[in-house]
Amino acid sequence: MKAIICKDYGSLDDLTLEDTAPPVTDPQQLLIKVLSAGVNFPDGLLIKGLYQVKPDTPFIPGMELCGEVIDCGAATDGFAIGDRIIASSASYGAFAEQVAIPAASAIKIPASLDPVHASNLLVAHGTAHHALKQRANLARGENLVVLGAAGGTGLAAVQIGKAMGANVIAAASSDEKLALAKRNGADATINYSNEAIKDAIREHTNGKGADVIYDPVGGDLFDSSVRAMARNGRYLVIGFASGTIPKFPVNLALVKEFSVVGVFWGTFTRKEPESFAANMQELLQWHQQGRVTVEIDRVFDLKDTAAALSYVMDRQVKGKVAITIG
Ligand SMILES: NC(=O)c1ccc[n+]([C@@H]2O[C@H](COP(=O)([O-])OP(=O)(O)OC[C@H]3O[C@@H](n4cnc5c(N)ncnc54)[C@H](OP(=O)(O)O)[C@@H]3O)[C@@H](O)[C@H]2O)c1
Repeated sequence: MKAIICKDYGSLDDLTLEDTAPPVTDPQQLLIKVLSAGVNFPDGLLIKGLYQVKPDTPFIPGMELCGEVIDCGAATDGFAIGDRIIASSASYGAFAEQVAIPAASAIKIPASLDPVHASNLLVAHGTAHHALKQRANLARGENLVVLGAAGGTGLAAVQIGKAMGANVIAAASSDEKLALAKRNGADATINYSNEAIKDAIREHTNGKGADVIYDPVGGDLFDSSVRAMARNGRYLVIGFASGTIPKFPVNLALVKEFSVVGVFWGTFTRKEPESFAANMQELLQWHQQGRVTVEIDRVFDLKDTAAALSYVMDRQVKGKVAITIG
């Protein structure tokens, strides 16, 4: 089968498209014909050796996919050849014609769901959903500020925040990105390329500050927005797309009585499989109702995976990028 291979940690340009042996399944696994794979910022971090997970090289990257079951291990009750599924729990393996995945990590979806959109429904939306629901306990009517609001997890947080009844304030670096956030339900916008984010958050919340800030960016943006928290607020640490992990002066949390809350969706899916399954059912229902959608910016062929990853890592993507296979 054809697959993208990462031979050594480093540059995205060193990825190669190769013919390689198809995966062998164990009794708990399903063999999947991959139809489409979602592209995520962490895929790039993993290949560069900057991610929490470090598989032995060589490996096939790609952490979320939509595909069709083409073989079932002996202990994979409930699945049959021909089922359409989405899956994400493996940190790698999706940028290939076939992948073996644990049946426990596969979620059946209607065959009518378009694979390009379905393949992008897990990581970004799953993270935003878990962050706002389990970690922030976001309540109806609260002020939610989303940084990097046109990126993968950011745009998902805008949609999910709206679905949960929050007043959503989207913040991003360009008017074009903010227009997309607005079309996806944002009530107000802040362009942090030319507005001081701390003052703008106060203005949009009648001086109260943000009840919840969703931050996938970090860096300088953290330093200023963390100073616009409301009392009892929750600052969600999602990621550091800026490349800088900020330092937090803890006296701010004391004086203003707010919390800094870490979010790691991958751990959540493994440690709390029942809550994860319930989240996914809710997400798929919202998707069916049109309250949550996947905005596909560009679709790449498997051979152009490096370009797809660069598009995401170079701050160009608006919404999500998919790789189609076969
Ligand atoms: N905690 C978790 O469980 C979890 C799960 C998934 C992802 N993540 C992390 O969340 C972060 C964002 O992921 P994502 O999928 O939302 O990525 P994305 O689609 O690339 O969006 C990231 C956003 O960050 C902003 N940004 C600011 N400086 C940037 C820079 N130097 N390079 C790239 N982007 C920059 C951009 O918005 P503006 O141009 O508007 O500033 C961009 O839209 C990553 O660090 C990722 O590893 C964490």
